[in-house]
Amino acid sequence: MISERLENAINEQINAEFYSEYFYLSMYAYFERMNLQGFKNWMHVQLQEEHAHAMGLFEYLQERGGKVVLNKVEQPKTDWNSPREVFEDVLKHEQLVTSKINALLDVAEEVKDRAAVSFLDWYLKEQVEEESNVGDVLKTLNLICDDKQCLFMLDKELASRTFNAPAIG
Ligand code: FEO
Repeated sequence: MISERLENAINEQINAEFYSEYFYLSMYAYFERMNLQGFKNWMHVQLQEEHAHAMGLFEYLQERGGKVVLNKVEQPKTDWNSPREVFEDVLKHEQLVTSKINALLDVAEEVKDRAAVSFLDWYLKEQVEEESNVGDVLKTLNLICDDKQCLFMLDKELASRTFNAPAIG
């Protein structure tokens, strides 16, 4: 049986992952309005990943005999001034998620739940990859500044990103 403290912390993280899905869905809509189909595709892959992250925690909590409690999902921002501003927000967001996963791991360690620590380690590794992916796009956006031709080239590149359901845990 899982401790109540860890159960609450996992429920908070489920909420944070569903918020992430919402956050990327809002960016997906923004890129549709901008008619940047590659960026839109990148967001579509990302929001599916976030859904998988939320459901991974959801299933894990149930498997451990815990109670899933779904809380209200915060409203995400809807407007940005440029793709670069979007990715600056994405990087800040993913850094925040990394700090939340670290805090969640702290709880699992404090209640001496080694099975949960081992399970949550996957999320920490995933965050390293996410921050790196986002950082790469942001570096390119910083390099090309507001060059429209380069932006369209990057848009074409981002169109090739595909979703592969992650093997969580
Ligand atoms: Fe599920 Fe992007 O963290």
